[in-house]
This record gives sequence, structure tokens and C-alpha cells, in this order.
Amino acid sequence: MIVQIPAVLTPDQVQAACHALDRAPWVDGLATAGHQGAQVKRNRQLAEGSPLARELGNVVLAALERHPLFISAALPNEVYPPMFNRYEGGETFGAHVDNAVRLLPGSGRKLRTDLSATLFLTEPRSYDGGELLIEDTYGAHAVKLPAGDLVLYPSTSLHRVEPVTRGVRLASFFWVQSMVADEGERNLLFDLDTAIQRLNQTGADDAARLQLTGCYHNLLRRWIKV
Ligand code: NI
Repeated sequence: MIVQIPAVLTPDQVQAACHALDRAPWVDGLATAGHQGAQVKRNRQLAEGSPLARELGNVVLAALERHPLFISAALPNEVYPPMFNRYEGGETFGAHVDNAVRLLPGSGRKLRTDLSATLFLTEPRSYDGGELLIEDTYGAHAVKLPAGDLVLYPSTSLHRVEPVTRGVRLASFFWVQSMVADEGERNLLFDLDTAIQRLNQTGADDAARLQLTGCYHNLLRRWIKV
């Protein structure tokens, strides 16, 4: 399931991030590409673990912790420290599947990549191209979101970033290890939670909502691995 998470960052936070990133030292994106990605990756990114990447990454992580839609869709167990990239002058990232496992910087622990995330930092009108194309069983979906919005998609998907032919595309990207590894189980829980939240807003039948909420938690209890 491809989920758009709106307004992860406020306009002020986006502006501050872009301002800092404008003067940032960018390195070749190949620094963190896997074998497959290295063949097709042509962009730049902030050095992993650099002070600015850590500072901005913490802003993103704090925003995600407060975002109910992100929590509901990802059921996060651990989030990889957000990284930042920049595309301009025709830069692109060809079709690839993200590595299944990433080493968490500094700890040596491993993170299984269940979900991939891109947080858009530049307004779509300020650049041409740069769509994130995600393939699923229904075909390819072009994603180009307002600054501050995030797209969450299965790390199992084949995806690519179209060449940026005008302007600059800044984004943050990272991976999530979910408490529910199976995508089908996670999608069912997300659908159920979304329906329950809607029923809560309409003040529907108390007993039925209680029963459904119980089902949600009892399914989660069956499927969760932490
Ligand atoms: Ni990727």
C-alpha cells in the first residue's frame, strides 16, 4: 500500500530545512548505494551522520512520533536515521529495490527495511521531473508531493526517481522496520484502524466500536514481533 502522510513538517520547518540544506556540503549519493543501486544512482546526499543530517533528521523523527497516520500505517518498531538528498541538472535514480537490511549507524545492529519513505522538501512547481515512480501490482504510480508531505511505500517495490530537468529537488528518505513484518497483515490493520477512527469521529454505536477496537488490538497482538 502506498500511503501519503500530509503535513509531517510545518511550512516553517520545511523552510528552515531547505535554508540549511542550501549551504550544506553534498556528497555523491553512491556513498550509501547497494550493489544494485550503484548502477543507476545519480544524485547527491548529505554525508550520513554529519551534524546537519543528524539535526534535521531529529526534526523529522520528532514529527513522525507525533503523527497518528504514520504510526497507524507503519506500526514502527525502529526508524532509520533520516538521510537527505538533492537532485538537479538531470540527476536521477533508476529502477531498483532497496536493500533488505541496513546497518544502523554506530550500533552495528541491523534494521529490516519493511517500508521506505520519502519526505518531499521542495514544492512541486519549483522543479520539473523528479517524480518517484513506485510499481505495485496495479502498475506504476507517480508520486510528487507538496513540501512537508511524506510517502510511505513497501520496500519490496521496484521504484525510481525520474530525472530532474529544471530546478532542485530536495528530500529526506529513510526506512522503517515495522512491528508487523508481513505487508498483508500490516495493510489489514491499517484499514481496520482507519475505519475505527472514522467511526469514532461519527460517534457510532459505542459497543460495536469497542468490539472492533478489541479486534484491532487482538489481531495486532497475534501478528506483532518486537
Ligand atoms: Ni530506493
